[in-house]
Amino acid sequence: MKHLLSAGTLSREQAIAILDTALQMEQVNSREIKKLPTLRGKTVVNLFFEDSTRTRTSFEVAAKRLSADVINFSAKGSSVSKGESLKDTAQTLQAMGADGVIIRHSASGAAQTLAQSGWIDASIINAGDGTHEHPTQALLDAYTIRQQKVGNAAGRGLDGLKIAIVGDIAHSRVARSNILLLRTLGAEVYLVAPATLLPGALATQSAGHFYSLDEALAKVSFDAVMMLRVQSERMTASFFPSEREYARIWGLNGDRLAKLSPDTIVMHPGPMNRGLEIDAKAADSANSVILAQVANGVSVRMAVLYHLLAGGSELE
Ligand code: NCD
Repeated sequence: MKHLLSAGTLSREQAIAILDTALQMEQVNSREIKKLPTLRGKTVVNLFFEDSTRTRTSFEVAAKRLSADVINFSAKGSSVSKGESLKDTAQTLQAMGADGVIIRHSASGAAQTLAQSGWIDASIINAGDGTHEHPTQALLDAYTIRQQKVGNAAGRGLDGLKIAIVGDIAHSRVARSNILLLRTLGAEVYLVAPATLLPGALATQSAGHFYSLDEALAKVSFDAVMMLRVQSERMTASFFPSEREYARIWGLNGDRLAKLSPDTIVMHPGPMNRGLEIDAKAADSANSVILAQVANGVSVRMAVLYHLLAGGSELE
Protein backbone atom coordinates (compact mmCIF):
# COMPACT_ATOMS: atom_id res chain seq x y z
CA MET A 1 0.00 0.00 0.00
CA LYS A 2 1.62 3.26 -1.11
CA HIS A 3 -1.12 5.85 -0.56
CA LEU A 4 -4.20 6.19 1.65
CA LEU A 5 -6.72 8.15 -0.39
CA SER A 6 -10.02 6.46 0.35
CA ALA A 7 -11.41 4.23 3.09
CA GLY A 8 -13.11 2.28 0.30
CA THR A 9 -9.92 0.79 -1.11
CA LEU A 10 -8.99 -0.93 2.15
CA SER A 11 -9.77 -4.62 2.30
CA ARG A 12 -11.03 -6.05 5.59
CA GLU A 13 -7.59 -7.60 6.16
CA GLN A 14 -5.77 -4.33 5.49
CA ALA A 15 -8.11 -2.35 7.73
CA ILE A 16 -7.77 -4.85 10.58
CA ALA A 17 -3.97 -4.89 10.13
CA ILE A 18 -3.92 -1.10 10.63
CA LEU A 19 -6.18 -1.33 13.70
CA ASP A 20 -3.94 -4.06 15.13
CA THR A 21 -0.81 -1.96 14.58
CA ALA A 22 -2.61 0.94 16.26
CA LEU A 23 -3.10 -1.30 19.27
CA GLN A 24 0.68 -1.70 19.51
CA MET A 25 1.12 2.05 19.03
CA GLU A 26 -1.32 2.66 21.89
CA GLN A 27 1.03 0.69 24.13
CA VAL A 28 3.93 2.89 23.00
CA ASN A 29 1.81 5.94 23.80
CA SER A 30 1.25 4.77 27.34
CA ARG A 31 5.00 4.47 28.02
CA GLU A 32 7.02 7.16 29.66
CA ILE A 33 9.12 7.57 26.52
CA LYS A 34 6.56 7.66 23.73
CA LYS A 35 8.93 7.25 20.85
CA LEU A 36 9.98 4.67 18.26
CA PRO A 37 12.93 5.03 15.86
CA THR A 38 10.93 3.56 12.93
CA LEU A 39 10.81 6.60 10.63
CA ARG A 40 14.17 8.13 11.52
CA GLY A 41 15.53 10.00 8.50
CA LYS A 42 12.15 10.24 6.77
CA THR A 43 10.44 13.55 6.08
CA VAL A 44 6.71 13.94 6.48
CA VAL A 45 4.95 17.09 5.29
CA ASN A 46 1.63 18.28 6.68
CA LEU A 47 0.15 20.13 3.69
CA PHE A 48 -2.99 21.83 4.97
CA PHE A 49 -5.01 24.08 2.68
CA GLU A 50 -7.97 24.10 5.09
CA ASP A 51 -8.09 24.91 8.78
CA SER A 52 -7.62 22.06 11.20
CA THR A 53 -6.67 21.66 14.82
CA ARG A 54 -7.14 18.02 15.69
CA THR A 55 -6.14 16.32 12.47
CA ARG A 56 -3.01 18.39 11.82
CA THR A 57 -1.66 18.18 15.35
CA SER A 58 -2.58 14.49 15.55
CA PHE A 59 -0.54 13.71 12.41
CA GLU A 60 2.30 15.86 13.69
CA VAL A 61 2.46 14.07 17.03
CA ALA A 62 2.12 10.70 15.28
CA ALA A 63 4.99 11.36 12.86
CA LYS A 64 7.22 12.72 15.63
CA ARG A 65 6.59 9.70 17.85
CA LEU A 66 7.90 7.59 14.98
CA SER A 67 10.99 9.86 14.80
CA ALA A 68 10.21 11.38 11.38
CA ASP A 69 11.12 14.98 10.59
CA VAL A 70 7.88 16.93 10.24
CA ILE A 71 7.27 20.04 8.17
CA ASN A 72 4.03 21.91 8.71
CA PHE A 73 3.01 23.66 5.56
CA SER A 74 -0.23 25.61 5.83
CA ALA A 75 -1.69 27.51 2.93
CA LYS A 76 -1.82 30.72 4.91
CA GLY A 77 1.67 32.15 5.18
CA SER A 78 2.99 30.07 2.28
CA SER A 79 3.41 30.88 -1.39
CA VAL A 80 0.02 29.27 -1.96
CA SER A 81 -1.53 32.50 -0.74
CA LYS A 82 0.55 34.23 -3.45
CA GLY A 83 -1.10 32.04 -6.06
CA GLU A 84 1.30 29.10 -6.29
CA SER A 85 -0.45 26.05 -7.72
CA LEU A 86 -0.74 22.59 -6.19
CA LYS A 87 1.68 21.41 -8.91
CA ASP A 88 4.40 23.92 -7.98
CA THR A 89 3.94 23.20 -4.29
CA ALA A 90 4.18 19.44 -4.92
CA GLN A 91 7.31 19.82 -7.04
CA THR A 92 8.92 21.94 -4.34
CA LEU A 93 8.19 19.27 -1.73
CA GLN A 94 9.57 16.62 -4.10
CA ALA A 95 12.80 18.61 -4.52
CA MET A 96 13.10 18.75 -0.72
CA GLY A 97 12.80 14.99 -0.52
CA ALA A 98 9.44 14.51 1.19
CA ASP A 99 8.67 10.83 1.85
CA GLY A 100 5.08 11.32 2.96
CA VAL A 101 2.60 14.12 2.30
CA ILE A 102 -0.53 14.49 4.38
CA ILE A 103 -2.92 16.70 2.47
CA ARG A 104 -6.13 18.47 3.45
CA HIS A 105 -7.82 20.48 0.74
CA SER A 106 -11.23 22.01 0.10
CA ALA A 107 -11.45 20.33 -3.31
CA SER A 108 -12.82 16.79 -3.46
CA GLY A 109 -10.22 14.68 -5.27
CA ALA A 110 -7.18 16.81 -4.36
CA ALA A 111 -5.34 13.92 -2.67
CA GLN A 112 -6.00 11.65 -5.65
CA THR A 113 -4.75 14.33 -8.04
CA LEU A 114 -1.53 14.61 -6.09
CA ALA A 115 -1.04 10.84 -5.95
CA GLN A 116 -1.59 10.36 -9.66
CA SER A 117 0.12 13.51 -10.89
CA GLY A 118 3.67 12.28 -11.23
CA TRP A 119 4.73 15.59 -9.62
CA ILE A 120 5.89 13.86 -6.47
CA ASP A 121 6.97 10.33 -5.47
CA ALA A 122 5.89 10.57 -1.83
CA SER A 123 3.18 8.49 -0.20
CA ILE A 124 0.03 10.60 -0.08
CA ILE A 125 -2.40 10.48 2.84
CA ASN A 126 -5.80 12.10 2.42
CA ALA A 127 -6.56 14.11 5.58
CA GLY A 128 -9.87 15.37 4.19
CA ASP A 129 -10.72 16.43 0.62
CA GLY A 130 -13.78 18.64 0.31
CA THR A 131 -16.96 16.70 1.03
CA HIS A 132 -15.41 13.49 -0.28
CA GLU A 133 -13.34 11.43 2.18
CA HIS A 134 -11.35 11.43 5.40
CA PRO A 135 -10.03 7.88 5.74
CA THR A 136 -7.90 8.28 8.88
CA GLN A 137 -10.93 9.68 10.73
CA ALA A 138 -12.87 6.55 9.74
CA LEU A 139 -10.00 4.35 10.93
CA LEU A 140 -9.82 6.10 14.29
CA ASP A 141 -13.59 5.87 14.63
CA ALA A 142 -13.49 2.15 13.81
CA TYR A 143 -10.66 1.71 16.32
CA THR A 144 -12.64 3.54 19.00
CA ILE A 145 -15.75 1.44 18.35
CA ARG A 146 -13.70 -1.77 18.47
CA GLN A 147 -12.00 -0.64 21.68
CA GLN A 148 -15.26 0.30 23.39
CA LYS A 149 -17.67 -2.32 22.04
CA VAL A 150 -15.73 -5.40 20.94
CA GLY A 151 -12.84 -5.44 23.39
CA ASN A 152 -9.39 -4.28 22.58
CA ALA A 153 -8.16 -7.39 20.85
CA ALA A 154 -6.24 -7.92 17.63
CA GLY A 155 -7.87 -9.52 14.61
CA ARG A 156 -11.43 -8.49 15.35
CA GLY A 157 -13.82 -6.60 13.08
CA LEU A 158 -17.08 -4.85 13.95
CA ASP A 159 -19.39 -7.66 12.86
CA GLY A 160 -23.07 -7.11 13.57
CA LEU A 161 -22.64 -3.82 15.42
CA LYS A 162 -25.35 -1.25 14.74
CA ILE A 163 -24.00 2.23 14.15
CA ALA A 164 -26.00 5.40 13.47
CA ILE A 165 -24.43 8.31 11.59
CA VAL A 166 -26.55 11.36 12.32
CA GLY A 167 -26.85 14.84 10.84
CA ASP A 168 -25.22 16.68 7.97
CA ILE A 169 -24.32 13.62 5.92
CA ALA A 170 -24.44 15.48 2.59
CA HIS A 171 -21.43 17.66 3.41
CA SER A 172 -19.53 15.13 5.48
CA ARG A 173 -16.35 13.42 4.31
CA VAL A 174 -16.31 11.74 7.74
CA ALA A 175 -19.65 10.08 6.96
CA ARG A 176 -18.56 8.91 3.49
CA SER A 177 -15.35 7.31 4.75
CA ASN A 178 -17.11 5.77 7.74
CA ILE A 179 -19.89 4.24 5.64
CA LEU A 180 -17.27 2.52 3.48
CA LEU A 181 -14.98 1.35 6.27
CA LEU A 182 -17.53 0.31 8.88
CA ARG A 183 -19.34 -1.81 6.29
CA THR A 184 -16.04 -3.43 5.24
CA LEU A 185 -15.54 -4.31 8.91
CA GLY A 186 -18.97 -5.94 9.10
CA ALA A 187 -21.02 -3.27 10.89
CA GLU A 188 -24.59 -2.29 10.05
CA VAL A 189 -24.51 1.42 9.25
CA TYR A 190 -27.74 3.41 9.58
CA LEU A 191 -28.04 6.96 8.27
CA VAL A 192 -30.23 9.45 10.12
CA ALA A 193 -30.69 12.94 8.70
CA PRO A 194 -33.11 15.52 7.38
CA ALA A 195 -34.12 14.55 3.82
CA THR A 196 -32.30 17.63 2.49
CA LEU A 197 -29.00 16.39 3.96
CA LEU A 198 -29.23 12.68 3.09
CA PRO A 199 -28.04 11.87 -0.45
CA GLY A 200 -30.02 9.00 -2.00
CA ALA A 201 -26.88 7.26 -3.25
CA LEU A 202 -25.57 6.95 0.31
CA ALA A 203 -28.95 5.89 1.71
CA THR A 204 -28.98 2.90 -0.63
CA GLN A 205 -25.60 1.74 0.75
CA SER A 206 -26.86 1.79 4.32
CA ALA A 207 -28.52 -0.91 6.41
CA GLY A 208 -31.42 1.52 6.82
CA HIS A 209 -32.14 5.23 6.92
CA PHE A 210 -34.41 7.49 8.93
CA TYR A 211 -35.60 11.05 8.47
CA SER A 212 -36.30 11.36 12.20
CA LEU A 213 -33.78 10.90 15.00
CA ASP A 214 -36.51 10.06 17.51
CA GLU A 215 -37.86 7.35 15.23
CA ALA A 216 -34.38 5.90 14.68
CA LEU A 217 -33.66 5.80 18.42
CA ALA A 218 -37.04 4.19 19.10
CA LYS A 219 -36.68 1.50 16.45
CA VAL A 220 -33.02 0.45 16.59
CA SER A 221 -30.86 -0.28 19.59
CA PHE A 222 -27.59 1.28 18.44
CA ASP A 223 -24.15 0.31 19.71
CA ALA A 224 -22.78 3.68 18.64
CA VAL A 225 -24.35 7.00 17.69
CA MET A 226 -22.02 9.22 15.67
CA MET A 227 -23.10 12.85 15.52
CA LEU A 228 -21.81 15.00 12.64
CA ARG A 229 -20.97 18.68 12.68
CA VAL A 230 -23.39 20.92 10.79
CA GLN A 231 -20.95 22.12 8.12
CA SER A 232 -22.31 25.61 7.53
CA GLU A 233 -19.18 26.66 5.63
CA ARG A 234 -19.98 24.12 2.91
CA MET A 235 -23.66 24.96 2.62
CA THR A 236 -24.57 26.91 -0.48
CA ALA A 237 -28.30 26.87 0.23
CA SER A 238 -30.65 26.71 3.17
CA PHE A 239 -31.02 23.07 4.20
CA PHE A 240 -33.08 23.57 7.36
CA PRO A 241 -35.26 26.40 8.71
CA SER A 242 -33.07 27.63 11.59
CA GLU A 243 -30.40 26.49 14.00
CA ARG A 244 -32.95 26.40 16.80
CA GLU A 245 -35.18 24.15 14.77
CA TYR A 246 -32.24 21.88 13.90
CA ALA A 247 -31.15 21.59 17.53
CA ARG A 248 -34.73 20.80 18.61
CA ILE A 249 -35.32 18.07 16.04
CA TRP A 250 -31.83 16.73 15.34
CA GLY A 251 -29.71 17.60 18.34
CA LEU A 252 -28.49 14.91 20.70
CA ASN A 253 -29.64 16.45 24.00
CA GLY A 254 -30.19 15.17 27.51
CA ASP A 255 -33.70 13.85 26.74
CA ARG A 256 -32.56 11.83 23.76
CA LEU A 257 -29.48 10.65 25.62
CA ALA A 258 -31.76 9.25 28.32
CA LYS A 259 -33.42 7.06 25.69
CA LEU A 260 -30.15 5.39 24.71
CA SER A 261 -29.03 2.22 26.35
CA PRO A 262 -26.40 3.01 29.02
CA ASP A 263 -23.74 1.26 26.96
CA THR A 264 -24.43 3.02 23.66
CA ILE A 265 -21.40 5.13 22.88
CA VAL A 266 -21.74 8.72 21.66
CA MET A 267 -19.18 9.92 19.11
CA HIS A 268 -18.34 13.17 17.31
CA PRO A 269 -15.33 13.85 15.08
CA GLY A 270 -14.96 17.42 16.35
CA PRO A 271 -15.05 20.33 16.21
CA MET A 272 -18.44 20.30 17.96
CA ASN A 273 -21.10 22.96 17.63
CA ARG A 274 -22.26 22.63 21.22
CA GLY A 275 -25.96 23.40 21.44
CA LEU A 276 -26.56 22.61 17.78
CA GLU A 277 -25.98 18.95 16.82
CA ILE A 278 -25.01 17.96 20.35
CA ASP A 279 -25.42 19.61 23.75
CA ALA A 280 -23.20 19.58 26.81
CA LYS A 281 -25.24 16.86 28.56
CA ALA A 282 -24.56 14.43 25.73
CA ALA A 283 -21.03 15.56 24.86
CA ASP A 284 -19.82 15.35 28.45
CA SER A 285 -21.83 12.27 29.47
CA ALA A 286 -20.55 8.87 30.53
CA ASN A 287 -21.63 7.58 27.10
CA SER A 288 -19.34 10.02 25.31
CA VAL A 289 -16.10 8.69 23.84
CA ILE A 290 -15.24 11.93 22.05
CA LEU A 291 -11.94 12.41 23.86
CA ALA A 292 -11.04 8.75 23.37
CA GLN A 293 -11.48 9.39 19.63
CA VAL A 294 -8.91 12.18 19.82
CA ALA A 295 -6.45 10.06 21.81
CA ASN A 296 -6.91 7.11 19.47
CA GLY A 297 -6.30 9.38 16.49
CA VAL A 298 -2.62 9.56 17.36
CA SER A 299 -2.20 5.76 17.63
CA VAL A 300 -4.14 5.14 14.43
CA ARG A 301 -2.17 7.76 12.46
CA MET A 302 1.09 6.28 13.74
CA ALA A 303 -0.15 2.94 12.40
CA VAL A 304 -1.02 4.43 9.01
CA LEU A 305 2.37 6.16 8.72
CA TYR A 306 4.05 2.93 9.71
CA HIS A 307 2.20 0.89 7.07
CA LEU A 308 2.88 3.42 4.30
CA LEU A 309 6.40 4.56 5.12
CA ALA A 310 8.26 1.98 7.18
CA GLY A 311 8.73 -0.39 4.25
CA GLY A 312 7.94 -3.51 6.21
CA SER A 313 10.56 -2.90 8.93
CA GLU A 314 9.98 -4.56 12.28
CA LEU A 315 8.08 -2.60 14.87
CA GLU A 316 10.57 -2.14 17.71
C1 NCD B 1 -13.78 16.67 10.43
C2 NCD B 1 -13.30 17.23 9.12
O1 NCD B 1 -12.51 18.17 9.08
O2 NCD B 1 -13.74 16.69 8.12
N1 NCD B 1 -13.03 17.06 11.53
C3 NCD B 1 -11.90 16.40 11.84
O3 NCD B 1 -11.14 15.97 10.99
N2 NCD B 1 -11.68 16.18 13.13
C4 NCD B 1 -15.20 16.90 10.65
C5 NCD B 1 -15.71 18.29 10.61
O4 NCD B 1 -15.02 19.25 10.32
O5 NCD B 1 -16.91 18.42 10.90
